Amino acid sequence: MYKYDEIDQQIVDERVAQYRDQVRRYLAGELSEDEFRPLRLQNGLYIQRHAPMLRIAVPYGMLSSKQLRKLGDIAKKYDRGYGHFSTRQNLQLNWPKLESTPDILAELATVEMHAIQTSGNCIRNITTDQFVGIAPDEVIDPRAIAEIMRQWSTFHPEFALLPRKFKIAVSGTQQDRAIVQAHDIGLEFYRDANNKVAIKVWVGGGLGRTPILGSVIREHLDWQHALTYCEAIIRVYNLHGRRDNMYKARIKILSKAIGINEFRNQVEAEWTHLKDGANTITEEELARVSKHFEAMPYENLPDQDAGFDAALANNPAFAAWAKRSIHPHKQPGYRAVTLSLKPHGSAPGDITSEQMWAVADLADEYSFGELRSSHEQNLILADVKLSDLFAVWEKAKAQGLATPNIGLLTDIICCPGGDFCSLANAKSIPIAKAIQMQFDDLDYLHDIGDIELNISGCMNACGHHHVGHIGILGVDKDGSEWYQVTIGGKQGNDASIGTVIGPSFSAEEMPGVIQKLIEVYIKERTPEERFIDTVRRLGAVPFKKHVYAKDEVSA
Ligand code: HEM
Ligand code: SF4
Repeated sequence: MYKYDEIDQQIVDERVAQYRDQVRRYLAGELSEDEFRPLRLQNGLYIQRHAPMLRIAVPYGMLSSKQLRKLGDIAKKYDRGYGHFSTRQNLQLNWPKLESTPDILAELATVEMHAIQTSGNCIRNITTDQFVGIAPDEVIDPRAIAEIMRQWSTFHPEFALLPRKFKIAVSGTQQDRAIVQAHDIGLEFYRDANNKVAIKVWVGGGLGRTPILGSVIREHLDWQHALTYCEAIIRVYNLHGRRDNMYKARIKILSKAIGINEFRNQVEAEWTHLKDGANTITEEELARVSKHFEAMPYENLPDQDAGFDAALANNPAFAAWAKRSIHPHKQPGYRAVTLSLKPHGSAPGDITSEQMWAVADLADEYSFGELRSSHEQNLILADVKLSDLFAVWEKAKAQGLATPNIGLLTDIICCPGGDFCSLANAKSIPIAKAIQMQFDDLDYLHDIGDIELNISGCMNACGHHHVGHIGILGVDKDGSEWYQVTIGGKQGNDASIGTVIGPSFSAEEMPGVIQKLIEVYIKERTPEERFIDTVRRLGAVPFKKHVYAKDEVSA
């Protein structure tokens, strides 16, 4: 993975010193609340319901064991012994003390980490697929370009005060797993007819209060122009995006308002000033950065292992875990493993310091000292030998990291909601826990099969509820907490935004509502259909009818 050079290190060290002085001046009363606010936000520090919240950047979800170990140490020393992986692959600390935050950033800087631009109206952490570099369906590994973009976007003076936050995702696989269509800019890498690396550029996607899937602004962009073309897009947005109304400030509103064709014309006109300029990526620069992402020193192995096969045959619990948690790999004899941060009855995405240390040890022992976080809020060991999978399972199980529910109903994506977030309309974590407890029978979960359930505590959609096969949104009705349900949302190449099934429900009703949706699916599915396929074939009506049936009878 990418290793800081002297410039990277100097940047984060200087930032720590500046921030330390800003906190000192704020605490001494030399800076007002209003003056301090943008300074802390530029360093990922929010003030939440009970305490500050610090969001630490995990560039495109890549972490070293050393970094995760340090995150575990920081959570123990300065917080309550746990952290929360977010849908943008970052790690959030829910309880740090403001006074400690300069020390936290200083400790992060010792392992090449920071919280710069994890908040505020700037270009945020660039995200990608958790199987980047190893997925068999990957055409291009986009990490080197993502890293070049990270360097370009960090402290980019022109884009420090955009109308609103700006999120970029990159993907180089046949099946998109980075939700490029739900980002302000989505870059989809592919090989063109001449076998050259090219980019399909999506723009104007975003969830939040006005969910919109992106549109293709350019079918073919040579990779050399990734920065200058994004610069042209963001420049048009910076000039014309609405600053009078924060709810209408995202690029999706601008591109919809003027239409994608007009938006494209403006971007192309702007690009004529930038194309082939200083930010054109050269072969040398790409080669320099790509060196950090070379394939691991894999052994030459057969793609079969007798010990692994025997364990699958003799140990049903291991087989159940393997079915959900082991993923294909480009390299014969290796597999990727997802460690579930969704044990039933816990806050999705939460991880204790002890678990962080244990995962760091697993990464060192079995996966070249590296790991990844996913936007589904789990952790991934990307390069495990077939012959090591059983040992990884046993050790992960001992740490509560081997719930065999990856991609199943209880692998819930969930924002912090009303337990932590001051913008929330409703709590989301207790809803996730209640659903997990309701669906605690693993055989039933495996029978239901692939399904994505996403929960957000308010319309800001941090839990990606719009693109969940089932989406749950916390709403406020006369001061009490209610939940609106959508079905038919989907991420991927054929992404879609879910449809609201009807009036909202109380917290107590929610597990029963999910149960009813599942009952319709089980009754109506054809043998090869996943939940989302049945919803797409039948539409929302049969689901709606069954869920609201009791109300109709009593009405
Ligand atoms: C707890 C403090 C948080 C606050 C105050 C906050 C605030 C917001 C706001 C205001 C938006 C909407 C932006 C807009 O529509 O213009 C948003 C979007 C988003 N947040 Fe958060 N958030 C928080 C935590 C999180 C967490 C924990 C996650 C991940 C689990 C997350 C992931 C996202 C994502 C993915 C979006 C993008 C939705 C989109 O496409 O527009 N946020 N957040
Ligand atoms: S969706 Fe709403 S409640 Fe959940 S973290 Fe985002 S802003 Fe907070």
